[in-house]
Amino acid sequence: MSRLNLTNLRKMKSEQNKIAMLTAYDASFAYALEQAGIDVILVGDSLGMVIQGQESTLPVTVEDMIYHTRNVIRGCETVFVIADMPFMSYGNTEQAINNAARLMAEGGAQMVKLEGGAIVADTIKQLTQRGIPVCAHLGLLPQSVHRLGGYRVQGRDEEGAQQLISDAQTIEQAGADLLVLECVPADLAERVTAAVDIPVIGIGAGANCDGQVLVLYDMLGLTPGKRPRFSHDFLAETGAIPAAITKYVQDVKSGQFPTLEQQY
Ligand code: KIV
Repeated sequence: MSRLNLTNLRKMKSEQNKIAMLTAYDASFAYALEQAGIDVILVGDSLGMVIQGQESTLPVTVEDMIYHTRNVIRGCETVFVIADMPFMSYGNTEQAINNAARLMAEGGAQMVKLEGGAIVADTIKQLTQRGIPVCAHLGLLPQSVHRLGGYRVQGRDEEGAQQLISDAQTIEQAGADLLVLECVPADLAERVTAAVDIPVIGIGAGANCDGQVLVLYDMLGLTPGKRPRFSHDFLAETGAIPAAITKYVQDVKSGQFPTLEQQY
């Protein structure tokens, strides 16, 4: 059986079929997500918080990411799997190439994700020219949480919005094949989605992106503390994990998730 690939994802954007993506960190959930019809699994460095109980994603290592990516890959056969590059694992080009290669060769990922705009454009170019597909991540960058002064909505003023659109175009020109856009106003996310040809996957970015992603444990209501406004407890709604994941996929595909109340 073959996995979904970038050609399929690009076709979904051009045909306006929404892409349903969730995070997962182990084989059992990878299997459950595949059964529910998820298109893409992100082995996110959010595992630092939801699996390891850390305060941020910063302590996550490349070894952690390889271990969890390998487990996810074993649990699913047809899903496209992306692995996050952890904090400072792509601080310079050589480091980025070595670590991305490990995530693909040892972890089995089909793509790596890294945070940042123009500042990482050369890294994206170096990786993609060597055959390593890259998903960029713009908007709220969890690895920069201390610089941003917390987990806040980004791009609220026109200057910030223009910068974000320009960053999206720069990373596309550098070779990125996918973009995750986190915590930005819905109208800005719509402008970014229209400004690039690569699929844009939103989290807290409104309904007009090409797809949606959530942290699995958030949408199952397991994350302690206040749930982010853009998330929804699909487990409370459905009463069972497989049903919750299936409902998420259906709601993303039909455009029912996110609602106006779940966007900025
Ligand atoms: O690490 C992660 O789970 C992520 C999502 C928030 C998109 O990057």
